[in-house]
Amino acid sequence: MRKSGSNIKVVINDLSVSYNDEGNAGDPVIIFIHGFPFNKSMWNKQEEALKENYRVIAYDVRGHGNSDTGTEDFSIDLFAADLLCLMDKLKIDKAMLCGLSMGGYIALNAVENYPDRFDALILSDTTCLADTPEVKEKRLKTIESIRKDGVEKFADESIKNLFAPGSFSAKEKEIAAVREMIVHTTEESLCKTLRAFYERKETCSKLSDIYVPVLIMVGEEDTIAPLAAAQLMNEKIKESSLSVIEHAGHLSNIENPSKFNNQLEEFVSTIYYYG
Ligand code: MLT
Repeated sequence: MRKSGSNIKVVINDLSVSYNDEGNAGDPVIIFIHGFPFNKSMWNKQEEALKENYRVIAYDVRGHGNSDTGTEDFSIDLFAADLLCLMDKLKIDKAMLCGLSMGGYIALNAVENYPDRFDALILSDTTCLADTPEVKEKRLKTIESIRKDGVEKFADESIKNLFAPGSFSAKEKEIAAVREMIVHTTEESLCKTLRAFYERKETCSKLSDIYVPVLIMVGEEDTIAPLAAAQLMNEKIKESSLSVIEHAGHLSNIENPSKFNNQLEEFVSTIYYYG
């Protein structure tokens, strides 16, 4: 029996995972995967916009929001395996997948390893490239400084890079909510996720195998996963289109939800749903 609503708990892979499941049971399913280190509430505005015509699921990746952390080391493979377990548990055979940044890493891994389970992809502010040696070095330094200076300091440093300059005055409430999401994440989970990013493999060489329609979105002022990263994926994925979100940095769905939702709704309305 389907449970609908928000903050529902389910046990998958011996792990308690929290998710929202809104909209009507028979409608096409879209699953949202948040970025790092946020949680499913970053998709509230997209859930609101889509739940009339879609079954909308947003979940907390392990170690984030209200999901447990577990004892294993984190990896993008593990995150994608969790997603598939969640789909199985909720008896979802096929879904459209929308991931932002880390959510995009998970979505790309899932579509590579379980191609028959997805109808379409929305990749937002993400990249198929692995970390460069410089970025890997930075990941290790960040782990060190989280252990030394704590999560609050990490949150303050992160916020500086996440948003377009204009968002700092225009989106104060949203920025405060994002900071809350970051400080709600434990030191252990932050460090385990950064280590998973350090180990993350590139997925660019697999993009030509993707045969479902893909919408790529990127905040015009995203400096973390910039336009060039989006263009690279657009070139490599046959059936893809690229949309640049103005007045937005890395969190384009939060900074410019009207443009983001507009593009998203237009795209998903074109997808044939296999049920
Ligand atoms: C995210 O928003 O998920 C992060 O920026 C991902 C990363 O640091 O690679």
